[in-house]
Amino acid sequence: MNIVKALQWRYAAKKFDSSRVIPNDIIEVIKESFNLTASSYGLQPVKLLLVSNKSILQELVPLSSNQQQVGQASHLCVFCVDTNIDEAYIRSYFENIKSTRNTPDAVLSSFRDSIISSFGSKSTDEIYNWGAKQAYLALGNMLTVCATQEIDACPMEGFDPVGYDAYFKLKEQGLRSALVMPIGYRAEDDMFADMKKVRKDLKDSIIEIK
Ligand SMILES: Cc1cc2nc3c(=O)[nH]c(=O)nc-3n(C[C@H](O)[C@H](O)[C@H](O)COP(=O)(O)O)c2cc1C
Repeated sequence: MNIVKALQWRYAAKKFDSSRVIPNDIIEVIKESFNLTASSYGLQPVKLLLVSNKSILQELVPLSSNQQQVGQASHLCVFCVDTNIDEAYIRSYFENIKSTRNTPDAVLSSFRDSIISSFGSKSTDEIYNWGAKQAYLALGNMLTVCATQEIDACPMEGFDPVGYDAYFKLKEQGLRSALVMPIGYRAEDDMFADMKKVRKDLKDSIIEIK
């Protein structure tokens, strides 16, 4: 599908066909796309929790402002921020660069040390706020990728992050939920599917300086 057509085809799905499940090959594309999302310094502070267990999805509906999409979806993506961006985390990232690219330590060490020092002075909340921006980026990337695969999705801030964190014991893993996105196939009777897109005129959303 042409990309603009794909973006016109997609919409924030409000009702999924709960009988349909996304095949594994498309799930693999979605997972790879998540992992390929750009991130600040390349630190990848966002972890994706991918839930397909139907009874868990049902249990999450009350923690999702009763939005039924969560219970009907094929899979639920929960974008979690890793708030443990400490010295060990950063060192392990730079070890990955070294082994992947054969880069000598001398080339990387001053950059690595400056990042360690910068993150060393951030509070957990500051790290969460920085990481949450990366979560939005990953969600945006996946919305587009889903559209190209003709997979429906609903980006969602309307959920209880504290409730999700407790449900999945995220805090114990150094994680905090930031966003959720049910994915699957639109229900035939989702009345939102055929609604016209509401967008500003291009001239009102873009300032071109030539
Ligand atoms: C960050 C974010 C949070 C959103 N939260 C919700 C939500 O909780 N529930 C919902 O039904 N839609 C949610 N939406 C969907 C928006 O309302 C929708 O994307 C917007 O109205 C544009 O319509 P479209 O995506 O159908 O083109 C959210 C969208 C974004 C980007």
